[in-house]
Amino acid sequence: MSDGVYTEAQATSGQGVYDAQCKTCHNMRFYRDTLRSWNNQPLLYLWESIMGTMPADNPGSLMFEEYTNVIAYILKEQGFPSGGFGAES
Ligand code: HEC
Repeated sequence: MSDGVYTEAQATSGQGVYDAQCKTCHNMRFYRDTLRSWNNQPLLYLWESIMGTMPADNPGSLMFEEYTNVIAYILKEQGFPSGGFGAES
C-alpha cells in the first residue's frame, strides 16, 4: 500500500466528511493503530468494514464516494502518498 492509491481531490473532500461524520468519535491516533492492524490487507476490506459499520450511530448512511473520500483523507493524514489514476497529486 505504499504507492499512491488516492488523489488529493479525494482527500480534500474527505476532510469535510470526516469533520462532520467521524471526528466526534475518533481522533487521528485511532486510525494509526487501526491502519497498522490492517497492514498488508487489501484496502478494499477496510473500505467495506467502514461502510458496513461506520458511523457507528448510523452505519451505511454515507454515499459510496464519501466513504472513499474519507478513507483518502485518513490515508493522507497518516502520511501515505497520493497519486491515484492520472492524478497530478
Ligand atoms: C457514534 C460514534 C462513531 C462515529 C460517528 C464513527 N465511529 Fe468509527 N467506530 C466507533 C466504535 C464504537 C468503533 C468500534 C470500537 C473501536 O474499535 O474503538 C469504531 C470503529 C472504527 C474503525 C475500526 C474498524 C475495524 O474494523 O478495524 C474504523 C476504521 C472507523 N471506526 C472509522 C470511522 C469513520 C471513517 C467514521 C466516519 C465515517 C466513523 N468511524 C464514525 C464509533 C464511531
